[in-house]
Amino acid sequence: MDKVHVFNAGPCLLPQVVYDKAIEAIKDFKGTGVSLLSISHRTKEWEATMDETRALWKELLNIPDDYEVVFLGGGASLQFLYVAMNYLEKKAAYLETGVWAKKALKEAAGIGNAYAIASSADKNFSYIPKGYEIPKDLDYLHITTNNTIYGTEIKEDYDCPVPLIADMSSDILSRPVDVSKYELIYGGAQKNAGPAGVIFAIIKKDSLGKVSRYIPTMLDYRTHIDKGSMFNTPPVFSIYVMNETLKWVKSLGGVEAIHKIDVRKAETLYAEIDRNSLFRGTAVKEDRSIMNVCFVMAEGKEELADEFMAFAKGRGMIGIKGHRSVGGFRASLYNACTQEDVEALVKAMQDFENLKK
Ligand SMILES: Cc1ncc(COP(=O)(O)O)c(C=O)c1O
Repeated sequence: MDKVHVFNAGPCLLPQVVYDKAIEAIKDFKGTGVSLLSISHRTKEWEATMDETRALWKELLNIPDDYEVVFLGGGASLQFLYVAMNYLEKKAAYLETGVWAKKALKEAAGIGNAYAIASSADKNFSYIPKGYEIPKDLDYLHITTNNTIYGTEIKEDYDCPVPLIADMSSDILSRPVDVSKYELIYGGAQKNAGPAGVIFAIIKKDSLGKVSRYIPTMLDYRTHIDKGSMFNTPPVFSIYVMNETLKWVKSLGGVEAIHKIDVRKAETLYAEIDRNSLFRGTAVKEDRSIMNVCFVMAEGKEELADEFMAFAKGRGMIGIKGHRSVGGFRASLYNACTQEDVEALVKAMQDFENLKK
């Protein structure tokens, strides 16, 4: 097969070494003679994997001692409900920066008093709202740091006067994070942290236990902290692949090193979008995501969209169709996507421009 360049938004590309390790473990998990898919999660070999995975998260993100990391099923979408169940008592605010932020708010509004403190819906979520007042009496402010569909990103850790909760599904492990500024960071693993089927939640332990409602056992973060994410059968395959993905991040020099690589990839592609007369970016420049790069045909060139898509496909580009709510193209440059992949896309854009001259 000719070389392909995978820009899928998630599940997305993972490093080849991670695929190889997963195949090995499916055949024989750690020399036990048992497949990873059949290993009991109560064996010492599996418990060692859980411990190591937690330790890798703590090391890579420099997570303070008063935090714990849990791994659960249900996707980031179920975390929207966990957040409200565990933290919403009187009032919570959500920064409405896209579809995922809206879905998170919807779950909270079903549980209690939750509202959008600011929104960029007026411009199809092409920017991150700023300058809004944060009332001091909020239980928390919820943000979505990277808006996968629209290609906008909050690239700093806010100094927030109230507890801050972040969905970091699509930019975790792409930059160093000051975890101490958050009560909770959560996300689906299926972008930078591994395959689909598991979420990570980084929880400040003393932030829990402050709501008066009954929290169903499975929805209570304390259950999973107490049981080391093994209250019920954990998604062993997904956690194993996450473990290998984290080891790969560490082998590259950790998140600081990865951040430099990611920034270079994004700058390469944005530079071409800004230079090329056939394309334009959709997100405002200051809020451009380094993970999801969204662009459309330039004004007056819209009719070339299908032709470019076919042209790019012919060059091995996979997964560059934009989300239907934005249209155009989206290249997701998660950690395993290489500079070479990005340059192949840039070359396709340049060649297409030359073809149309
Ligand atoms: C920022 C963000 N939050 C939440 C989700 C939902 O994740 P899941 O499919 O794991 O429920 C996604 C999925 O792409 C996402 O990009």
